[in-house]
Amino acid sequence: MRMNFLNKNILITGASSGIGLQLAKDLANVDCTLILTARRYENLLNIRQELNHKSAKIIIYKNNVAEKQDVRKVYSAIKENMNKIDIAFLNAGTNSKLMPDAFSAEDAEITYGANLFGIIYWAELLIKEMKSRNDGMIIGVTSLADARGFSKNGFYSSSKVAASTLLESMRVDLIKHNIKVITVKPGFVRTPMTAANNFYMPFLMNVETASKIILSGIKKEKRVIRFPFLTTAGTVLLKLTPNFIYDRLSVGLRNSGEKLKENEKSKNN
Ligand SMILES: NC(=O)c1ccc[n+]([C@@H]2O[C@H](COP(=O)([O-])OP(=O)(O)OC[C@H]3O[C@@H](n4cnc5c(N)ncnc54)[C@H](OP(=O)(O)O)[C@@H]3O)[C@@H](O)[C@H]2O)c1
Repeated sequence: MRMNFLNKNILITGASSGIGLQLAKDLANVDCTLILTARRYENLLNIRQELNHKSAKIIIYKNNVAEKQDVRKVYSAIKENMNKIDIAFLNAGTNSKLMPDAFSAEDAEITYGANLFGIIYWAELLIKEMKSRNDGMIIGVTSLADARGFSKNGFYSSSKVAASTLLESMRVDLIKHNIKVITVKPGFVRTPMTAANNFYMPFLMNVETASKIILSGIKKEKRVIRFPFLTTAGTVLLKLTPNFIYDRLSVGLRNSGEKLKENEKSKNN
């Protein structure tokens, strides 16, 4: 099957930076309507200005995906302007490190709020609408970090596990309503999110390449889009690794990654 974006109403959450922004830039070359949302409205204003001369019509909304009432309010506002959302990229996500070395419920709430409930709140409304017309596509961005419980990344990894599993259930349940659900699982992509990481990131990819891979996978209606290949292969191996080896490996990797990063920093200074 091949689908296209022509004349579609396309929602992108988390469009103010990184992967969401690049998807918006790429889709702006198509004759379609882009509904871009994020909390940083200033960014969205600048993006709309930048993409103004392109083919797509750009509509922007300030939205916090972690707040159910806000999602409902923004959805109603969208539906006042247009009768349907054909395709939704539920991409907004975060890796909260308010308290980097603490086990903090606040970090968990922020991370789960965006990465899991951000998908749930939007999906609730989209599924209802798409079921009523027996058509639609929901694309959820999770991560290859859903493969195991990664060191110092428990809230992020587990929020992505939950999101990936949820999207898989949705995919199966919604087939009969002709609603396609696609899960996107990137490895490391160069965005503001990864710029904050202080460890070595293997096969770090440009956001432009990541967006091309995602859009090409969607056109082919792949069920799950995983990339890059070597990171994907690595996570498959990690899943098969016995726990006692995994524990040693992950602690060792984290330590050597931090040392590598420190060496790079001191070289640059
Ligand atoms: N970069 C990677 O290596 C990588 C790897 C695997 C998966 N991912 C996933 O890819 C997605 C995009 O991440 P990115 O790398 O592009 O990071 P990013 O540049 O930090 O972008 C994250 C986007 O999500 C939005 N966002 C965060 N919390 C939000 C909230 N509560 N409500 C609404 N919007 C919110 C941000 O907008 P505002 O701050 O303006 O609200 C921003 O537009 C995330 O789901 C991330 O987990 C990224």
